[in-house]
Amino acid sequence: MQDHGARLFDNHGRELNYLRLAVTDRCNLRCFYCMPEEGIKYLPKKELLTFEEIERLVRILADLGVSKVRLTGGEPFVRTDLMVLVRQLVEIPGIRDIHITTNGVLTAPHIPELKALGIASVNLSLDTLDRERFRIITRRDSFDRVMKCFDSLLEHEIPFKINTVVMQDRNIEDIIPLASLTRDHPIDVRFIEEMPFNGEGTHYPELTWTHAKILDHLRSHFPDITRIPDPPFATANHYHIPGHKGRIGIIAAFSRTFCGTCNRIRVTAQGMLRTCLYDEGTLNLKTLLRSTTDDGMVKNALLKALKSRAVDGFEAEARRRSQQPATESMSTIGG
Ligand code: 5AD
Ligand code: SF4
Repeated sequence: MQDHGARLFDNHGRELNYLRLAVTDRCNLRCFYCMPEEGIKYLPKKELLTFEEIERLVRILADLGVSKVRLTGGEPFVRTDLMVLVRQLVEIPGIRDIHITTNGVLTAPHIPELKALGIASVNLSLDTLDRERFRIITRRDSFDRVMKCFDSLLEHEIPFKINTVVMQDRNIEDIIPLASLTRDHPIDVRFIEEMPFNGEGTHYPELTWTHAKILDHLRSHFPDITRIPDPPFATANHYHIPGHKGRIGIIAAFSRTFCGTCNRIRVTAQGMLRTCLYDEGTLNLKTLLRSTTDDGMVKNALLKALKSRAVDGFEAEARRRSQQPATESMSTIGG
């Protein structure tokens, strides 16, 4: 039954080996680029996949060829007993690495155990190194706790990346200080184009802080910054500043230039399969998992959905039944 070494391909010949799993849609921050100030309407708890359902789903996907899982949210650590799930997932044959994307507010106490469990890496969302700007961007006063997480990740030598969404009028002055973190630390600092996934629609008539503009800005301060090769399936373009220990990444999330190599499957907190960030959900896994104990049926339904994947984010958006552009909060999609 266990067929590790299995490989899964979509209808465009792209290998799918990476699952992004949202464990909750709730968050303890209210980042400007992700949610309106009053928050979003959260799912009732019974609408979430249970840990048992998640474990079953990940086993099935591992049999099909998924080897990497990233836990996202919302904020994953807002889900009660998240570490119980992490302990279950590390045991699944075929799952080679587990990653977590977190805002760092509740994370620090769990870092020693994450290290012990062999977590592959952590992505820490951090848009500013200034306490006051942090409060304005996230609408919460949790900067010190996030920095504690940053320090603990370094101390425990867990590989990590900083994710920074670049926002006109909000954190432009942070680009250079954040990039400068790569001087002394062997980390990736990744600047992300802002997408309209904030629960209310686009903030600007057009995106000002594009990949090209972010790079120009970096170059004005670090004239020797150089493009370096990207790892396979990377969404970021990678750069290096001579003499620095870490790397810089720029993610053209809005421009969607990386779809050609997309190896990602998403499962939202409410158990919808998304074969692209921009689709509406192409298979209701929660209903399916709750209606049958036959893993073969779930497998077949997954295979069918994964064989009709949009070629890129533009096609996925055009296929949306509602014909509305995608604007849900990233917190419900899982990033
Ligand atoms: N645009 C770009 N990135 C976003 N994220 C969340 N919302 C957006 C958005 N509107 C990313 C951030 C955050 C991660 C959880 O998802 O990088 O760190
Ligand atoms: Fe993947 Fe969709 Fe993003 Fe393309 S737009 S890289 S298919 S998530």
